[in-house]
Amino acid sequence: MNTIARAACVLTITAVAVIALCVSALNARTNARRIALQQNTQHLKGDASRGEYVATMAGCIACHTDYENDGLPLAGGVALETPFGTFYSPNITSDTTAGIGSWTETDFINALSAGIAPDGSHYYPAFPYTSYSVMDEQDIIDLKAWLVTVDPVASSAPNHNIAWPVSIRTTLVFWKALFFNATREVDTNHRGDYLVNGPAHCSECHSPRNVLGGLSTRVLSGNKRGPEGHSVPAITKADLADWTTEDITLFLEVGITPSGDFSGGHMADVIEYSTGLLTAGDRAAIADYLLSEETTP
Ligand code: HEC
Ligand code: HEC
Repeated sequence: MNTIARAACVLTITAVAVIALCVSALNARTNARRIALQQNTQHLKGDASRGEYVATMAGCIACHTDYENDGLPLAGGVALETPFGTFYSPNITSDTTAGIGSWTETDFINALSAGIAPDGSHYYPAFPYTSYSVMDEQDIIDLKAWLVTVDPVASSAPNHNIAWPVSIRTTLVFWKALFFNATREVDTNHRGDYLVNGPAHCSECHSPRNVLGGLSTRVLSGNKRGPEGHSVPAITKADLADWTTEDITLFLEVGITPSGDFSGGHMADVIEYSTGLLTAGDRAAIADYLLSEETTP
């Protein structure tokens, strides 16, 4: 073997070893989090009516119901256009075959907090578990209690239409090792921090992403290539300098901006199906958080 071939060989082995280390570190972190959740939720009882509220604030209903084509609640089929192709949200009704009616609480915790399916495969981050991973134990259990009360629908959503090699699910092992922090924490005593960076997943659209779709740490600083290629504005304290808490609260309720414009695109859906249906207290908590020092870039 000549020197170049030997060097290439050593480099390849090193790269594989580094990737393997990253993957095993990710697995250790993810497992610690989901096992803790499984244990801590054992004594909790789910409240279905609270769960419906959690599903609203987390946007589960909007993204899993094909309103545009008169789809049934939570039957999936919503097309999500991304730079990698089109994803379709699956059926998450209580149907035991087409939906998730046969899932245990453990299956549900693994999906939401770690992006792991019952068969051990990984979910694409088009399902924003990257935000849901910080969700409160009681919220998860309530959400599950509500989902089993949703009428079963027997139809399945179309398969994703995504390009190779992204179409190979195993590649998600590397994506998650690089971009998914299973032990990320939010201040659960600060309702606004919890909602924005957790269930309400504002940063999934409002933070920049790199070419591999990983979220940047410049949280809420805007995304030039948001859903369907449209630009999403920055919403840190500095960017919202002209907005008062009341302006933001009103915007999240009815979609009107301080200059009198109505919000369009994806934000109009977020307002119609999620923030507009929250309690006034939750909207105010989100507004307070956006205007707090914590979102100062
Ligand atoms: C932005 C759209 C979007 C939102 C919001 C969203 N999901 Fe999904 N969800 C998806 C997509 C897309 C998939 C498929 C992921 C895959 O195939 O890897 C998915 C997958 C799932 C699955 C796995 C289903 C299966 O058959 O394996 C469950 C369970 C689920 N979502 C529940 C939820 C819950 C609960 C919420 C709210 C907390 C939620 N989703 C919010 C898009 C979304
Ligand atoms: C599905 C993607 C998506 C999600 C999730 C989302 N937004 Fe937006 N948001 C947008 C888009 C797109 C716009 C621009 C709308 C327009 O041009 O009319 C916007 C606009 C805004 C604006 C107005 C900013 C301005 O300068 O006009 C605020 C404030 C805002 N969003 C707050 C939030 C908050 C808070 C959340 C979480 C509760 C959130 N958004 C979640 C896509 C999203």
